Amino acid sequence: MTPHNNAAKGEIAKSVLMPGDPKRAKFIAESFLEDAKLVNDVRGALAYTGKYKGKEVSIMASGMGDGSMGIYSHELFKEYDVDRIIRVGSAGSISDDLKLGDVVAALSASTDSGYLNHYNFPGVFAPTASAKLIKALLKIDDTIVLGPIYSTPVFYCDDSYFEPCKKMGLLAVEMEAAALYANAAELGKDAITLLTISDIIGKEECLTAKEREETFTKMINTALELAIS
Ligand code: ADE
Repeated sequence: MTPHNNAAKGEIAKSVLMPGDPKRAKFIAESFLEDAKLVNDVRGALAYTGKYKGKEVSIMASGMGDGSMGIYSHELFKEYDVDRIIRVGSAGSISDDLKLGDVVAALSASTDSGYLNHYNFPGVFAPTASAKLIKALLKIDDTIVLGPIYSTPVFYCDDSYFEPCKKMGLLAVEMEAAALYANAAELGKDAITLLTISDIIGKEECLTAKEREETFTKMINTALELAIS
């Protein structure tokens, strides 16, 4: 147990899917897992453990932003001996080549966040996805879009904030991948982030509820296959 998680050690599987939203965690557990059991409810960061194709998998909400992801992923890796975390979330597209509903796997996550400062790294650390999970992902879906993204704790800002990101080839913006990748690197674990494009920076377009559900289902199936690979 930790100050933020009342699951007993052993109640969390070695592979964990992390959506941001606790209601999403509940939905994934109830719709995709067999025998899902609630193992944490502290601060509403719901965590479930069940079986996918006979193998144990957990689903736990990360909350929003690097601070929240930083706490939960650190505890999962360090206190619960979790080996791999697969973030499953949404992102705003920065690249003109992406459309609503596309699924992106984040190879790297550049960030404006101060979260990385505590590692005392000389220079700028580059948070990256696990090579092992990227290789496994390509065996499951070799058509998925792979590329660099941007993680920021800032949601409300001028669209022009993302112009340098576009210039540097970043595909999309979200809020948690950099902290997750940095924690995995520090603790010698594996992490990857899969993102559905839910909005386009600078445009009014966003997915309808039905479209969101369809693309979400495809992403979760990929993530679960990756969890048991
Ligand atoms: N997640 C989904 N859309 C986002 C956006 N526009 N910015 C940050 N995170 C997001």
